[in-house]
Amino acid sequence: TSLRSIVQNMPKAELHIHIEGSLEPELIFALAERNGVSLPYASVEALRAAYAFKDLQSFLDIYYAGASVLLQEQDFYDMTAAYLRRAEADHVRHTEIFFDPQTHTARGVPMATVINGIHRACQDSPVSATLILCFLRHLSEDDAIATLEAALPYRDKFIGVGLDSSEVGNPPEKFARVFSRCKDLGLRLVAHAGEEGPPAYIYAALDVLHVERIDHGVRCLEDHALTRRLAEEGMPLTVCPLSNIKLCVFRDMKQHNLLQLLDAGLVATVNSDDPAYFGGYLNENLLAAFDSLPLGLQHAYQLARNSFVASFLSEADKQKHL
Ligand code: ADE
Ligand code: ZN
Repeated sequence: TSLRSIVQNMPKAELHIHIEGSLEPELIFALAERNGVSLPYASVEALRAAYAFKDLQSFLDIYYAGASVLLQEQDFYDMTAAYLRRAEADHVRHTEIFFDPQTHTARGVPMATVINGIHRACQDSPVSATLILCFLRHLSEDDAIATLEAALPYRDKFIGVGLDSSEVGNPPEKFARVFSRCKDLGLRLVAHAGEEGPPAYIYAALDVLHVERIDHGVRCLEDHALTRRLAEEGMPLTVCPLSNIKLCVFRDMKQHNLLQLLDAGLVATVNSDDPAYFGGYLNENLLAAFDSLPLGLQHAYQLARNSFVASFLSEADKQKHL
């Protein structure tokens, strides 16, 4: 059996997937039609042709436009169900799904519509799936606090909170109070840091927000003390190879630092981020990395193992997968 087929077939967890980033152009057009929303693109092909990004912000502008077709609970259900079918095909046994409620509540969609639609699809899937509510860091902390309050009636339907959107200029410190409140509520904590932002943002995510995982974190290698600390603490990084190439964090996959992260002893995992926009779901991210980097069988096992170790499954449930 080839290394590629082992990578594809091995049971794995996914820990960094924005559900709005799984919205394929075909579904965007179908939902636009169903909801009478007009799109600034003439066709599926024209929309896909716009997926040429130079940085994170150029992607986010199109990603928020795509999400504008989501209005009814069934829309959120259909989007999530489609992702979970793809995850199942990639032998994903457990997934921790990000969602961005502010992208929808700002358009007048009720919090209940967003959370109930996504959650019901998770319950209907054979894949174990939990939800992480992300705050948009380009908005104010007061907006994040209001979003948390609006979501608390559905506290049983999400396990944690994260921080995403435009990183540079919106450091973790901006969200110190809301993360402190979430910690008190017993929510699990993660944040995007060190994707485009400097190592200082990773330090702040750890020391100010008290996160339990760093999303991306690939720029940690610029700081040796930070890299050592992340390794010693077993602090997981949810790395997204195709995303990093499409958003020009690395010039091409041969330049990606995934192997250096693993060699530094970090609990690095591979994830898809926004698979509909970046050219592939989880197995395509793994295969792209394995095709371009000198990764072997041991790395495949390590990445599969790391994905469960880094998850928010109970210790007993992790053991079943290790
Ligand atoms: N939202 C969706 N994908 C993101 C990413 N890669 N970084 C920050 N915010 C995001
Ligand atoms: Zn992300």
